[in-house]
Amino acid sequence: MTDTSSRLVQSLVENARIGYSLEQDFYVSDAVFKEDMARIISRKWIVAGHVSRIPNKGDYFLFKIGSEQIIVIRENDQSVRAFFNVCRHRGSTICSAESGNAPRLVCPYHAWTFGLDGQLLAARLMPEDFNKAENSLIACHVRVFHGLVFINMSQDAPDDFDATFGDMGPILAYQGIDTARIAYAGSYPTTANWKLVVENFFECYHCVPSHPEFCSMHAPETLVAVGAGPSSGPADAIANFAPKVKAWEDKAAALGRPIGSLDDAPESSHLRLLMQRMNKEGWSSETQDGTAPAPLMGNRTAPDGGRMHLSFSPFSQIVADDHFAILFQFTPRSALATDVEMIWLVNGKATEAEVDIDKMTWGYHATTTQDKVITENNQAGIMSTRYQPGRYSDQEGSVMKFQKWYLQHMAAPKAA
Ligand code: FES
Ligand SMILES: [Fe+2]
Repeated sequence: MTDTSSRLVQSLVENARIGYSLEQDFYVSDAVFKEDMARIISRKWIVAGHVSRIPNKGDYFLFKIGSEQIIVIRENDQSVRAFFNVCRHRGSTICSAESGNAPRLVCPYHAWTFGLDGQLLAARLMPEDFNKAENSLIACHVRVFHGLVFINMSQDAPDDFDATFGDMGPILAYQGIDTARIAYAGSYPTTANWKLVVENFFECYHCVPSHPEFCSMHAPETLVAVGAGPSSGPADAIANFAPKVKAWEDKAAALGRPIGSLDDAPESSHLRLLMQRMNKEGWSSETQDGTAPAPLMGNRTAPDGGRMHLSFSPFSQIVADDHFAILFQFTPRSALATDVEMIWLVNGKATEAEVDIDKMTWGYHATTTQDKVITENNQAGIMSTRYQPGRYSDQEGSVMKFQKWYLQHMAAPKAA
């Protein structure tokens, strides 16, 4: 089975045309999705959530990805653990609630009981030669970085976390992601392949036709040049935009903001991206009228008028202004289903009265609701017998980069 799906992927990759959307099978096939899981999704550091979801010992939440379920649980003040939600007896899931608190993890089937460190503590009536120490829960790699819980399902050593993401630390610290609190969470499950969700997020060619609210919050020249990353737009638009960003960077740096952008090559492990630039003239944050919906975030003592898009990988992204940040999670569930979650973060010290939820969520709630529709339409059209890969525009540079990254991962020899 694996060989069949491997061979299918190999021939698809060999026939892929750079500069064109992918062949239908990449977006619809269960066999390709299986390879996506094995070669990419299981091997990347992916944000599972914000650590404020599990402040107390035994607090947990479930993170579902592909056909895997990961229990992310607080072991103690210092330690967050992650385990596959699979009992070592006969394989039942152990946690069924999306979140909760458990002093011990007790399987509901035959009551095997595991500690918060995953060790099997109790299993009734087992034969004499049964070894509890060999039946701990299967751990998943986990790392908390500036308040974000990353998991990595790799069976072998994952990419070194600090080498991969360390340089993003100062940006996250400035934004105060670690001490932020969740003000609102929205779920936009999308009936489409994960690559269509990512491709849509990585281009702003569709912004004008599809996103009136989003476009009202941004200058048109900005969206054309860098609407979906530092190299998303046509070269001349990027060149014209660069001096304006530089002028803003000088002011923002004087206020203490770590400035600069990142644009990983397709050969990179995680295809990270960071675009920092000024918000629209007169807009202090991405709201309907540009006024602030919440207190300043992080280390700011004054608004710097900036807006950033930080991508840890195609699966985990942050968009942030002076007053709020949104964590976007694109989580593949199957060939034709992707969970899309948005978590709005605000200054951890902000009171409820200081945060105007409706104002803060207005723009991106509308935009992501529209993205769900257009991405599902994209998937539906691709299901047709008459679909064929189409040519990309000059405003789809980040999509092309994503495709190169994706195809390289699919072409690489598979780890044992
Ligand atoms: S499957 Fe969990 S105790 Fe039996
Ligand atoms: Fe969009």
